[in-house]
Amino acid sequence: MKVGFIGLGQMGSGMAANLLKAGHQVSIYNRTAGKTENLVRMGAKAPGEIATVCASDAVMTMLANDDAVESVVFGNSGILQNLPRNAVHVSCSTISVALSQRLAAAHEGAAQNFLSAPVFGRPEAAAAGKLFVVAGGAADVINICTPLFEAIGQKTFVMSDRPEAANLVKLSGNFLIAAVIEALGEAIALIGKGGVDRQKYLDLLTSTLFNAPVYKTYGSLIVDGKFEPAGFAALLGQKDIHLALAAANTLRVPMPLASLIRDRFLTLLAQGGETLDWSAIGQLAAQDAGIIGGSS
Ligand SMILES: NC(=O)c1ccc[n+]([C@@H]2O[C@H](COP(=O)([O-])OP(=O)(O)OC[C@H]3O[C@@H](n4cnc5c(N)ncnc54)[C@H](OP(=O)(O)O)[C@@H]3O)[C@@H](O)[C@H]2O)c1
Repeated sequence: MKVGFIGLGQMGSGMAANLLKAGHQVSIYNRTAGKTENLVRMGAKAPGEIATVCASDAVMTMLANDDAVESVVFGNSGILQNLPRNAVHVSCSTISVALSQRLAAAHEGAAQNFLSAPVFGRPEAAAAGKLFVVAGGAADVINICTPLFEAIGQKTFVMSDRPEAANLVKLSGNFLIAAVIEALGEAIALIGKGGVDRQKYLDLLTSTLFNAPVYKTYGSLIVDGKFEPAGFAALLGQKDIHLALAAANTLRVPMPLASLIRDRFLTLLAQGGETLDWSAIGQLAAQDAGIIGGSS
């Protein structure tokens, strides 16, 4: 397909590379222009403006947050103004349910299509084409975009014909991951202060009842204290808990654990942990227990 890709950060650069490897004609844009060089060497076009990137069958966006998506879509010379009729905007960023609804309505008003396709998987999975894609939108449009999802991911889960449902699923998933990180941090602080070897403890967990990628990935990061370089920055993690709570507020779903985790992120950010990996909230329990110092 002829596809535009906007947002070449930790996730987007790997995703765009995999679209190229799958044989799609890819044209790319990033706010910071230097990040296009590697992909241009691989065969991407980098016209330097969003309008030209939009002359495609589909435009995918993988941007930091709601503000970034709003400026790229609704801004002057943005996607809304330039995407052809019947072409599709595929939003892969983790954004609010409310913005997803607004995007769906705006694209419909411009006779364009809109899909939400947020993803699970860290930058390594994005680079390897092993993401899990959570798709929401009209079935016929999802069918058209399936080759794109197959290029970036190992499996696509179609959740609903409403795009915003995919965003809600993604936010709920990130809440669950953050809850696992917090729980692991507390448990590892407990056994660590009690003099038990933390690596042995993690091996026990992950080879028995907790034999799941999320415990393995985040347990290792906590045990190794490896929060830099950030694969998923704490600032983005805080954004996701905030967005999960915003959705919970709208739907009137109390989430006391999410509220607690929101405060954990605030503690981490207040202590200067903005650029650490979001799993650094998993060291706060050890800090509270007097085992280690602050994050800054
Ligand atoms: N990292 C992960 O493990 C992971 C996993 C799943 C989902 N996600 C989600 O995927 C999205 C991207 O994450 P990431 O880790 O790739 O983030 P990132 O490395 O920080 O990249 C963010 C991208 O957004 C662009 N951007 C930020 N603000 C902008 C603005 N105001 N206008 C235009 N462009 C703007 C950045 O451009 P510049 O290069 O110019 O800064 C960059 O291309 C986020 O929604 C995140 O929550 C991340």
